[in-house]
Amino acid sequence: MRATARAQPNIALIKYWGKRDTRRNLPAVGSISITLADLFTETSVELDDDLLHDCLVVNDRDDPGMMPRISKCLDEVLGSDRPRARVDSRCNFPIAAGLASSASAFAAVVVAGAAAAGQPHNADEMARLAGRASGSAARSLFGGYVELTSDDDDISVASICSVEEWPLSVVVAITESGAKTIGSSEAMEISRNTSPFYDRWVGAQAEDLKTARDAISARDFEKLAAVAEHNCLKMHSVMWASRPPVVYWNSATLNCLQAIRELQSRGVAVFFTIDAGPQVKAICLPEEEVVVRSALAGTSGVSNILVSGLGAGAELVKQR
Ligand code: DP6
Repeated sequence: MRATARAQPNIALIKYWGKRDTRRNLPAVGSISITLADLFTETSVELDDDLLHDCLVVNDRDDPGMMPRISKCLDEVLGSDRPRARVDSRCNFPIAAGLASSASAFAAVVVAGAAAAGQPHNADEMARLAGRASGSAARSLFGGYVELTSDDDDISVASICSVEEWPLSVVVAITESGAKTIGSSEAMEISRNTSPFYDRWVGAQAEDLKTARDAISARDFEKLAAVAEHNCLKMHSVMWASRPPVVYWNSATLNCLQAIRELQSRGVAVFFTIDAGPQVKAICLPEEEVVVRSALAGTSGVSNILVSGLGAGAELVKQR
């Protein structure tokens, strides 16, 4: 009745921002992401009929704040009449700082929860279940380049290119390691309800998805770079024009964008993306990793650098 799963966060190149159905947590738009290899969350779920309530420990500390979302997620997987669970999670990168820690956390909980109950689920079903807890978590069930399609009834998720077919590197510049000021679920609703750009954002997403899909299948780095940066800046424009404005950037975020522009002007194959936090993710060809890393490490306001290749989807590591 105990199982452990490991899941890696993913970074969206074509972003999910906004919900079509908040009750079922259905995204208003499709998205394309890359799953990382070297950052991870490892989670054990132990089901125990004698426990009176669920408990959650994250990095050796009780985490009552996150507990209700984890409990709800386990209810989705196992039904609300399930035994209570002891959940123990460990993460090797900063939590809730815009590094997709919720994506890897929920992907790992779904896989470990299903295995602890001896319930076989395929990756498709687990992606749907993880997506109900957090839209981006659905993508962490798959490795490499992953597309999430959101249609009227539900989501579907698939890997559209493997790591081996196009290995890229990701250099993350940490500009602030504390938790973000506003969670993405809440911020998305503010954007949907108040941003004058929201409908245009949703309407243009199909075209960006197609451009990115084509770029990935042709391994066209420049084309992928252009559409990913455009899509990222559009998402942040939607946020900035919301009321109240949703601004995740700090001055170091902008310094990093300038450093990346400078690298690009020297012909380095690199582009940026930024999620619901102030960190900057630089995606580059593996042979450019050293130069990108050193440029960002030397950028004012950057406190730490994480480097990762692309990796596999969530998997079970232990069951007993
Ligand atoms: C900016 O998946 O965290 O990282 O479904 O409300 O949990 P919820 O949102 P979440 O949002 C991710 C937003 C993003 C873009 C992306 O990952 O596609």
